[in-house]
Amino acid sequence: EEETSSTSAHKCPWMPTSYVDCTDFELMKKAKIHAAHVLLWSRDEKPVSPYHYDDIELPMQTKILMQVRFDGSFGFPGGFVDELESKVPSSFPKFLELLQQGVCRELFEEMGFGRDTSPSYVYSCHPAGREKDVMLHFFMFQLTPSQMKAISWGSIISTSDEVVGLSLVPLYTMKDGIRGLPTFLTNSFAGNAVEQLLRCILKQGFLSEVEVRKATEVAFKILK
Ligand code: GTP
Ligand code: MN
Ligand code: MN
Ligand code: MN
Ligand code: MN
Ligand code: MN
Repeated sequence: EEETSSTSAHKCPWMPTSYVDCTDFELMKKAKIHAAHVLLWSRDEKPVSPYHYDDIELPMQTKILMQVRFDGSFGFPGGFVDELESKVPSSFPKFLELLQQGVCRELFEEMGFGRDTSPSYVYSCHPAGREKDVMLHFFMFQLTPSQMKAISWGSIISTSDEVVGLSLVPLYTMKDGIRGLPTFLTNSFAGNAVEQLLRCILKQGFLSEVEVRKATEVAFKILK
C-alpha cells in the first residue's frame, strides 16, 4: 500500500493514488498542506512538427509544457498554497478562492505570467506515504499557440530560481516504439506529476489509451 506513495517516480496511471474531488470539503479541511500545479497546453491548428515525419506515426499537434525543476526532476508550474497554510477555510467557496489564488501566484512566480488566468480544476489527490499530509491539486489551462510560443527562458529566470528548464512533452511514439513519449517517461518526476500528465492526456484525448498504455509499459521496461 505504501508502495503507491510518491517515492516511486514512475507510476502507472492505472495504479493511482487515491483521487478525490475538492468538493469533499471535510477531507480538504483535514489536509495540513495543500499544493497545486497547472498543466499549460496549446493546440496547433495543423500538426506542426519539427521532427522527422517518416519516423513518427502521428505528428504532434498538442503542446504540453513541463518544467525541469531545481533538483533535476520534471514537474508542472505550481507549488504550495501558502494561502491555505495552517488555516482552515471558513467555507468551501473561500477554500476554492484561496486555492485559485495560490495556484495563480505560483504560476506567476515560476513563469512570469498567470495572474489573470483562471485554470480549470481537474482533480485532487491524497497520496499515501511520504506526502501523506499534502493534498495535491491539479489544474489545466489552455494557451493559444502564440502564447505558448511567447513563453521564454527570460520569463522564468527573472522570476524564480526553482526552475532550471522548460520542456514540451513529446506526445508521440517513434517507429522503434521506444523514442518519444516512452523515453520521456523514464525521467524522474516530482510528486505524482507523471500520473497527472498521463491522466490529463487521456482525459483530453490527446493520445489514445492504447498508445499511453504502450508507452508506459515500454518506460517501465527501460527502467527495470
Ligand atoms: P517552494 O516555494 O520552494 O517551497 O516550492 P513550491 O511552493 O513551488 O512547491 P513545489 O512546486 O516545489 O512542490 C510542492 C509539493 O508538490 C512538493 O511536495 C513536491 O514534491 C510536489 N510537486 C512538485 N511539482 C509537482 C507536480 O508537478 N505535480 C505534483 N503532483 N506534485 C508536485
Ligand atoms: Mn536537425
Ligand atoms: Mn514555487
Ligand atoms: Mn513549484
Ligand atoms: Mn512556493
Ligand atoms: Mn519558493
